[in-house]
Amino acid sequence: MQLLSAINLAHDFEYPLFTDINLSLNVHESMAIIGASGSGKSTLLHILSSLLEPKEGRVELFDENIYDLKKDALVHMRRNDIGMVFQSHYLFKGFSAYENLEVAAKLSNTKIEEEVLEGLGIKEIIHQKVTELSGGQQQRVSIARVLTKKPRLIFADEPTGNLDSETAFDVMKLFTHYIKENDAAMVLVTHEKSLAMQCDHVYKLVDMKLEKVK
Ligand SMILES: Nc1ncnc2c1ncn2[C@@H]1O[C@H](COP(=O)(O)OP(=O)(O)OP(=O)(O)O)[C@@H](O)[C@H]1O
Ligand SMILES: [Mg+2]
Repeated sequence: MQLLSAINLAHDFEYPLFTDINLSLNVHESMAIIGASGSGKSTLLHILSSLLEPKEGRVELFDENIYDLKKDALVHMRRNDIGMVFQSHYLFKGFSAYENLEVAAKLSNTKIEEEVLEGLGIKEIIHQKVTELSGGQQQRVSIARVLTKKPRLIFADEPTGNLDSETAFDVMKLFTHYIKENDAAMVLVTHEKSLAMQCDHVYKLVDMKLEKVK
């Protein structure tokens, strides 16, 4: 079952960023996008996840052309089926880590899973205030918050950027486990090739094109 497909995407800001981007992702699959800083990885991820409209081409999520959807249907899809882990995380600062997860669970009518907290190594710090946590702990709480929503498609932008290599590896293992268990799929943007290579498909954004690496 195909969850994501991108057809002939092109985008530019002041100058052209990329053209002729075609890709697709099936259930239970993970895909990594690597490339130099400024090559447009985050921009591409925003387009794939419906946050930004491309200058050319189209994105289909769950077999729907997202630009044909009514506004309500798109909001519903974003809230229930899409999980975004941003390059800079946006936790509610006045709350504890746990309260941040509770908000996600309430909004999506799901529950917080011990397995996720354990897999991310945040069980011990879950009742601390967000402002008392290290950057890497905050990053893992924001991943837990996204997984608590139970999305079918995860878009993650440098989700392990603040983590040591061992913790990053554990986070990747958790993502892989999650997509198999929940009939989901993931698109990951990362600078780290060793993490990227753990995904089923790897692409590199270079010279305005997407090159297949794996
Ligand atoms: N909203 C915007 N308006 C104008 N230019 C933008 C906008 N967003 C990104 N850009 C430009 O597009 C280019 C690609 O940015 P993008 O954030 O996609 O790169 P990236 O590959 O994710 O880089 P990094 O690895 O540093 O995160 C950059 O030159 C950036 O300045
Ligand atoms: Mg980026």
